[in-house]
Amino acid sequence: MTSVILRQNAQLRSKVAGWKVAGQRVGVVPTMGALHAGHLSLVTAAKRDCDRVIVTIFVNPKQFNNPDDLQKYPKTEQSDAEKLRGMGVDVIYAPNLPEIYPDGFATNISVTGVSEGLCGAHRPGHFDGVATVVCKLLLQTGADVAFFGEKDFQQLQVVKRLVRDLDIACDIIGCATIREADGLALSSRNVRLDGAARAKAPGIYRCLQAAADALNDGGVIEVVLTQTKADLLAASIGDVEYLELRDSKTLRPVTELSGQARLLVAVNLGGVRLIDNIAVG
Ligand code: PAJ
Repeated sequence: MTSVILRQNAQLRSKVAGWKVAGQRVGVVPTMGALHAGHLSLVTAAKRDCDRVIVTIFVNPKQFNNPDDLQKYPKTEQSDAEKLRGMGVDVIYAPNLPEIYPDGFATNISVTGVSEGLCGAHRPGHFDGVATVVCKLLLQTGADVAFFGEKDFQQLQVVKRLVRDLDIACDIIGCATIREADGLALSSRNVRLDGAARAKAPGIYRCLQAAADALNDGGVIEVVLTQTKADLLAASIGDVEYLELRDSKTLRPVTELSGQARLLVAVNLGGVRLIDNIAVG
């Protein structure tokens, strides 16, 4: 099967309309391209669950708070398309900028609560950019179900809140983080790690695992977090942006472990910002 690349919403709409008439379940995997096995695991989940699968590729300028980061973002559309064709994706939707942000675009979607703190505190405007573009992509594709990675755990909660609040008829499925054999979470940014930083990077997940074990064994949260920061430092990961235990649904800070929690971390390693998280409780 060959997947087509569509650039315009009108083309996408008529394609999806045909599928809907035939009663088919349509899934979407939103991405910014530069696809790796983490992205492809979402496509596999979508293929398993849906009759038709759309993958969107759009490097969304509105969610980059750092112009340099946007400029450096890898663009590999041709090899992305080859990977997706090999997986039997029906449509690759790679819209031109005006399809998403037409002249005079003046709408901003801002999800409060779950977007605050963590990455939200360190990347001003980022989650507004994510919420706005995801809202548009869900409406444009008309998908019944959309797949997001737990790798970006805060983003996943922002998207869940968004669809609930705006009555967007799309189920949001969170998928487990795909890792290298040494534990490093796959990320488009990993290619920017130099040899020394790459060698240290698995320490992030190792420290998260040790922390989760300690918390699950009844460790005092503050003590465990302090120990984990010391562990990160000992692993030569000294520049920790945040390390926080949050409720896994509301993302409110957790001071006592009762329900499901999530330990989330962001570090800067050799000039590259890496995030990861682990379930606790
Ligand atoms: P992007 O970084 O390209 O990621 C696309 C999807 O892949 C996200 O849902 C992300 O959580 C998931 N993903 C990334 N690394 C993963 C890994 N190691 N394991 C499992 N899933 C992984 O996230 C975005 O794009 C954008 O913010 C987007 C939602 C497309 C809006 O612009």
